[in-house]
Amino acid sequence: MKNFIFVFIFFAIFLTVNAAPHQFDKRATTFKACSDELPSLNVTMTPDPLVPGQSAKFNVSGTLINDLFKGIADLRIRFIDSTRQRLIENPYYQYFNESFPAFAPFSIIAPKVDVPSNLTSKYVIEVVIEAKELDDIYGCSLADGEK
Ligand SMILES: *[C@@H]1O[C@H](CO)[C@@H](O)[C@H](O)[C@H]1NC(C)=O
Ligand SMILES: *[C@@H]1O[C@H](CO)[C@@H](O)[C@H](O)[C@H]1NC(C)=O
Ligand SMILES: *[C@@H]1O[C@H](CO)[C@@H](O)[C@H](O)[C@H]1NC(C)=O
Ligand SMILES: *[C@@H]1O[C@H](CO)[C@@H](O)[C@H](O)[C@H]1NC(C)=O
Repeated sequence: MKNFIFVFIFFAIFLTVNAAPHQFDKRATTFKACSDELPSLNVTMTPDPLVPGQSAKFNVSGTLINDLFKGIADLRIRFIDSTRQRLIENPYYQYFNESFPAFAPFSIIAPKVDVPSNLTSKYVIEVVIEAKELDDIYGCSLADGEK
């Protein structure tokens, strides 16, 4: 009987600990490709969901079909209202400080992206890898956010 109770408690703890990551998964913002023509990006944000008026860390990674040159390629993050008509704040830009060859995995960390305090109740987060001075877009993903 004692053993049975012990095993029961053990499983209760095990199940509780296991349930936590699943709840987290459910809340995680899902990024998808912006269009069929552009490679998509893997994006993780901390915190997720974002908190209006605070800053967030973005980790953007993937494999693209263009070379990414440091000082030329950049990461652009925009918050757009859900009708896609209006930018909520000026875009965030960060140049690559490291080069990555085409077809090799890359990642770039944006340590401190300001999340607009006037976020609309529904909004779109758009993440782009580009070379803005060359007018080239290399990859893009977006996600629906909700306040
Ligand atoms: C960013 O994401 C990539 C791909 O998932 C991962 O390999 C890398 O460790 C992450 N970097 C940080 C600082 O979290
Ligand atoms: C994103 O990351 C997952 C898991 O690490 C990987 O399977 C997938 O291929 C990545 N997607 C892109 C677009 O790089
Ligand atoms: C949010 O505030 C910025 C200025 O800080 C302004 O440019 C933008 O239009 C505002 N967005 C909305 C949706 O009100
Ligand atoms: C590039 O920038 C990231 C984030 O700002 C920083 O952590 C990293 O040390 C930098 N790498 C180089 C090679 O300067």
